[in-house]
Amino acid sequence: MKRGHLFLVGFMGSGKSTVAGVVAERLGVPCVDLDQLIEAEQGASIAEVFAASGEVAFRALETKALLDLEGSEPSVVACGGGIVLLPENRAALKRMGTVVLLQVSAAEAVARIGDVSTRPLLAGPSGTLAATTLLQAREGLYRSVADIVIDTSGRSPDEVADVLLAQMEDSP
Ligand code: S3P
Repeated sequence: MKRGHLFLVGFMGSGKSTVAGVVAERLGVPCVDLDQLIEAEQGASIAEVFAASGEVAFRALETKALLDLEGSEPSVVACGGGIVLLPENRAALKRMGTVVLLQVSAAEAVARIGDVSTRPLLAGPSGTLAATTLLQAREGLYRSVADIVIDTSGRSPDEVADVLLAQMEDSP
């Protein structure tokens, strides 16, 4: 297994933040959530950052949060669902550690999220329609960075963590 960070990527609602906490605890390493870092630094929620500054500005903050982790002690990192959009982020993920893709269907993602107003890109008349379109557009990008792919449907965060840790042991 490559050294460095363990990055969890995947669509909103795939369970990245919850699973990252479980895996970090089991490995005895810090857990980092990029959205939470941005919120703490900005003193605002992600929805507020989008509303005040727009998506492009948010993406710049996201890239900075990611690159700031370079060289820091190995941690489990929950990435925002859009981390794979920028080529520099995809290169950084591959360079800085192991990337795990948590897969989820659009319908299950929306059901898990519940209040989609917390996710500016899904807020609107149909969260499921927005999720389906976005997920389709991103699927190839998620796969392009993933060292390990895990289907989370019907699995609890603990079960996903079990599968993840087992697959890491099996990885070269
Ligand atoms: C986004 C996902 C969100 C958050 C922002 C944009 C995306 O993170 O970064 O709303 O573009 O998919 P989660 O995946 O943790 O919900």
